[in-house]
Amino acid sequence: MSQLHVINHPLVQHKLSIMRDKNTGSKDFRGLLKEISLLMGYEVTRDMPLEDIEIETPICRTAAKKVSGRKLAIVPILRAGLGMVDGLLELVPVAKVGHIGLYRDEQTHEPVEYYCKLPDDIEKRFVIVTDPMLATGCSSSYAISMLKKRGCRKIRLMCLVGVPEGIATIQRDHPDVDIYIAAVDDHLNENAYIVPGLGDAGDRIFGTK
Ligand code: URA
Repeated sequence: MSQLHVINHPLVQHKLSIMRDKNTGSKDFRGLLKEISLLMGYEVTRDMPLEDIEIETPICRTAAKKVSGRKLAIVPILRAGLGMVDGLLELVPVAKVGHIGLYRDEQTHEPVEYYCKLPDDIEKRFVIVTDPMLATGCSSSYAISMLKKRGCRKIRLMCLVGVPEGIATIQRDHPDVDIYIAAVDDHLNENAYIVPGLGDAGDRIFGTK
């Protein structure tokens, strides 16, 4: 069963409250999302494997550690997932970034892929999928399936706010994928918006609408 990690660090909760406020403008919203992503990234990467190395300090040779194997890939789901990339890149500047674009078919309500560009060696990387709002969970689940078809085996999902139904979708479809989230809200309204949520994350990041 995939694990749900609720990142209830006081700084994350404080910043999230400011983001939820409808009077917070795009500039601050973007900045706060970046800061939260960096703080959450610390937890998401907590158990990345290390290997032993030997280095020479100005004083002597000594045993040390480095992150082992192929490193990290960050895969935002367009477009709101982009808002979580810069914070993670600040933490791991050598990470590669892939992009997945999905839209919802009007008739079937199923996600449809319109863009996918991933690092060549994505299957060897530890992948963090970013999607701030885990609403129905359908697009995150679909994106994770796309990554698994390309051979990815170590995948984590990083969100900001979710609801129990979205979490259940991921846990049902991808029991091997842990979810990292800052808050679990109450429910989805009739338009599939998270309540209380923070509105449309893409619009608030990019100042559209
Ligand atoms: N996507 C958003 O941007 N906000 C929601 O509340 C739900 C989905």
